[in-house]
Amino acid sequence: MADSSYSADRVRHFTESIIRDMTRVNNNLGGVNMAQGFPDFDPPAALVKAAKEALDGDFHQYANTWGAASLRQAIAEKFEWYNGLRPEPDKHITVTCGGTEAMMATMLGLVEPGDEVIIFEPFYENYGPDTRISGGRPVFVPLKRVGDSFRFDPEQLRSAFSRDTKAIVITTPHNPTGKVYSEEELQVIADLCIEFDALAFADEPYEHILYDGVRHKSIASLPGMEGRTVTLNSVSKTYSVTGWRIGWAIAMDEGITTAIRRAHDFLTVGAAHPLQVAVAEGMTFPQTYYHELASAYQARRDMTLSILGEAGFDFVTPEGAYYVMTDYPDCGYDDDLEFSLFMAETIGVTPVPGRAFYHDPDMGRQYVRFAFPKKLETLEIVRERMRKISEFRK
Ligand SMILES: Cc1ncc(COP(=O)(O)O)c(C=O)c1O
Repeated sequence: MADSSYSADRVRHFTESIIRDMTRVNNNLGGVNMAQGFPDFDPPAALVKAAKEALDGDFHQYANTWGAASLRQAIAEKFEWYNGLRPEPDKHITVTCGGTEAMMATMLGLVEPGDEVIIFEPFYENYGPDTRISGGRPVFVPLKRVGDSFRFDPEQLRSAFSRDTKAIVITTPHNPTGKVYSEEELQVIADLCIEFDALAFADEPYEHILYDGVRHKSIASLPGMEGRTVTLNSVSKTYSVTGWRIGWAIAMDEGITTAIRRAHDFLTVGAAHPLQVAVAEGMTFPQTYYHELASAYQARRDMTLSILGEAGFDFVTPEGAYYVMTDYPDCGYDDDLEFSLFMAETIGVTPVPGRAFYHDPDMGRQYVRFAFPKKLETLEIVRERMRKISEFRK
C-alpha cells in the first residue's frame, strides 16, 4: 500500500496485517483459507435467532457505554462459574467492539509513554501496534520449542521485568502456538507481577477451545492477582461469530476499569446494541454447549494434525485454540513467505507465514501457521490438496 507524507509517525512503521493480507491472496486464488482464524461453519442457531429478535426489539439506540446491562450481568455470571471470580457488572466490566478493542482500550487506559509491556513471542500480531499506539515499548520474551511444547525460560522472563514494566500480556490458550499455560507457569508470572508491581493483561478468547482434557486457568484467579489483572475476552471464537465484534475487559479493581472505560468511551462509545442483547442470551447456554464446542474442535484438530503429519510438516501439538504452528517440509523454500505463497498458488491451501508473529521477521522464517476452524468436509479438501506436496518434497 502507498504511504503518504501526511501519515502520522505512530502508524508509519506498521505493516499491514500479514494475516489479512494472506486472506486476500487466498481469495484471489480460490484456495482454502487456513490463514485467518474464522469459522467456515454456522454459529449456534439460537444465537442468530436471539439477534433477529433483538432487532425487532427496542435496542436501536446507543447501549450504555459500559455495555448493555443484561450482557454485563451475563458476563459476570459466566466469569464466576468458569473462571472463579465474581465481578460486579457496574464496577468491573466494560463491553467493547471485540477483544481487539478491549486490548486497545486497556493499553490506552493504562500504558504510558516510556512504560514497558512484556509480550511472549511468537505473539498475536495486534499486541505490538497496541503497545506502540499507547506510547509503550514492547519487550519480547521467547517461547521456545522444547520437544512437543513451547516454553519460556523463567530466568529470561525475570530479566525482562524492570522498574519500567507496566504489564505483561498472557494469551492462554495461545495464538499462534496452541500453548495452554499451566498453573505453575502462571504462578511464575504472577510472582513477578507482584514483585515488580506490574499488571497482567490476560487475553483469553480461546478459553473453551481445549484438547486432550487440558484445563484452562485464568491468572486473575491466582492469589494476589485479582486486583492487578485485566481479563480480555470476546464472543468471536466461543460462539463462532467473529463478525459480531463484541468483546469485554474485566478488571476487578474499579480504578483500573475506570481507566479502561475512559479510553473505550472515546474510541467507540460501544458495540452494536442488538447484538449485545443477543449475546447476553448466548452466555446463558448450558455448560454442555462448551463441552460440545471443545469436542467438535478436538475432531478438527486431530484431522488437521493427521493431514499435516502425512504431508511432512513437523509441528508442536496444540493444547488449545485453533491454530497449529509448524515447521514446513523442504520443497525448495527456506523462507516462510515464499513457502506460504507456494502453498496458496500451487497447493490451494493458504497458511500464514511465521513472520506475522515475531517482531523480527527472520525469527519466523522456519514456521507457518494453519488455522483450522473448518468443517470436516473442508478439511477433507485440504487433505486431498496437501497430497500434492509430495511431488515437490526434496
Ligand atoms: C489472541 C487473540 N486475541 C484477540 C483476538 C481478537 O478477537 P476479536 O475478534 O474479539 O477482536 C484474536 C483474534 O484472532 C486473537 O487470536
